[in-house]
Amino acid sequence: MKRLPAAAALAAALAAALCACTAAPGGRLTVRIGHNQATSHPTHIALAAFEAFIEERLGDRYDIEVYPSELLGSQTEMVQLTQTGAISFCVASNSILETFSENYTLFNLPYLFASAQAYHAAMDDPAVTGPIFDSTRQAGFEAVTWIDAGTRNFYTVDTPVDSPADLRGLKIRVQQSPTNVEMMRLLGGSATPMGFGEVYTALQAKIIDGAENNEMALTSNGHGDVCKYYSYDMHQMIPDLLIGNCGFLDALPAEDRAIFEEGFRLVNEIERREWVTAVAEAKETAEAKQGVQFLYPDTAPFQQACQPLHEQMLDSYPALAPVYGAIQDYNAQYPAGAS
Ligand code: GCU
Repeated sequence: MKRLPAAAALAAALAAALCACTAAPGGRLTVRIGHNQATSHPTHIALAAFEAFIEERLGDRYDIEVYPSELLGSQTEMVQLTQTGAISFCVASNSILETFSENYTLFNLPYLFASAQAYHAAMDDPAVTGPIFDSTRQAGFEAVTWIDAGTRNFYTVDTPVDSPADLRGLKIRVQQSPTNVEMMRLLGGSATPMGFGEVYTALQAKIIDGAENNEMALTSNGHGDVCKYYSYDMHQMIPDLLIGNCGFLDALPAEDRAIFEEGFRLVNEIERREWVTAVAEAKETAEAKQGVQFLYPDTAPFQQACQPLHEQMLDSYPALAPVYGAIQDYNAQYPAGAS
């Protein structure tokens, strides 16, 4: 399936034509879910399982439709569609939600989590996620569960990155968030924010020298065909979030809502299980078939360069200090080196 070129026009047309509560034949409600990954990606596998689960339990009332590969537009466009209720759900990176609520800035901080275990424990704790996930209710949507998107690292077309100095003068694609732009400035590179769907062509055309993402981007999105160096500087663990339209969620009868909640937990569980094998396979394929070289630089200089962002965030949003503190407790419990 190919992404339609005029995504913005499509989004506008959809917003006008659709409603989250469109009745399907037989009086069932059509529930549309959009995301930007391929159908072989853990995100899609988990959402397909959600579709099967809801339709098995509530199939007489709901028809779930999952749209992969940016078919409904870029992530930002899909968030807007979810906001207005033109679609019921989409998967969005935490990064881009920063522009919808400043609370999301927290999970975008580089080197926020000391280990994958600390990251998972914090994201599984409603005391940590609640204040963030609910903060967009006024904007019309809320996060209903998180899914793993691994660790973000730099990868480049032809310049190995061993230290922040190697980023100097390089144009690196980042997600569209002020934190990511500032992170690149602190690391000495030149940030080029753009949507995920534009990255492959930009790399090929040498409009950018590299990007940063998890290993799946190399294979699932083909970036490893162009970029031959992938450096584990481990700068961010940024979750993806399944977000839902509040009008749709609030209108669900209590017993249906309980089953949807079960479905959201299933999305988290399945995606995380699939993620582990998908990343291992991506790394193997990138190395063996695409000729990508994996580098393991000392992460300390990268971390030091990014540290001012933590202080800036705490100064700008003091209300987030208790949640930041709870994350530090998880970091103490699961320090670096834990997996
Ligand atoms: C990851 C993440 C996506 C995000 C993408 C990006 O693939 O899972 O949600 O859109 O990175 O860099 O934009």
